[in-house]
Amino acid sequence: MSATVESVIVAIDGPAGTGKSSTSRAVAAQLGLSYLDTGAQYRAITWWMISNGVDTDDPEAVAGAAEKPAIVSGTDPAAPTITVDGADAAGPIRTQEVSSRVSAVSAVPAVRTRITELQRVIAASAPGGIVVEGRDIGTTVLPDADLKIFLTASPEARAARRSGEIQGADVAATREALLKRDAADSGRKTSPLAKADDAVEVDTTELTLQQVIECVVTLVEERRAAGAGERTAR
Ligand code: DC
Repeated sequence: MSATVESVIVAIDGPAGTGKSSTSRAVAAQLGLSYLDTGAQYRAITWWMISNGVDTDDPEAVAGAAEKPAIVSGTDPAAPTITVDGADAAGPIRTQEVSSRVSAVSAVPAVRTRITELQRVIAASAPGGIVVEGRDIGTTVLPDADLKIFLTASPEARAARRSGEIQGADVAATREALLKRDAADSGRKTSPLAKADDAVEVDTTELTLQQVIECVVTLVEERRAAGAGERTAR
């Protein structure tokens, strides 16, 4: 009798430019899982704060508005979506202005509580399972995930990849901006960017995207097989 494939929850964390989004989307698509980009949610709430005149350097003002925007994520890896109060936010959340303010907004505890709740509801209701990517998924949002991956890469490789995504980008300036954001994300008090003790670390510096995807798909399949084995033995 073949083992039934059970729902699987995969947490993929790491700093910017490690290939998290491309890897997570591809792995989800390949394995028929849902996909959630939690960075897009923090960017969306930041965009709302900027658009509504909230001072993003004032944690109290940000906390006071944290419950206001309606943020909805579409989790199809072939076409992920994000809306804020019903408006498509996919474009506006990728501006330099949002990128430079998102660390301050996402460090506010009321924002993290709000967004973490959304993430847990989405993960719990994903049919067949989900790949969730972010900074604190394995440590805080989904500490019971079936598989936790922590992606790393050298600052040079990360800056080169990010610059390749932005037209006319200066690699040195991109590197500085990335390192500044990493320091803020790793240094904040509430659920900082961190590797969970039971996460598998994958250094992507010398790997192609395809190699990283294959590595993660293999890890998920191994975990599923081990889970099926445990269930059969019970
Ligand atoms: O993945 P990204 O670069 O789009 O994320 C944008 C920012 O959102 C990142 O600098 C920190 C924040 N973030 C977070 O605090 N926790 C997460 N789980 C995901 C992102």
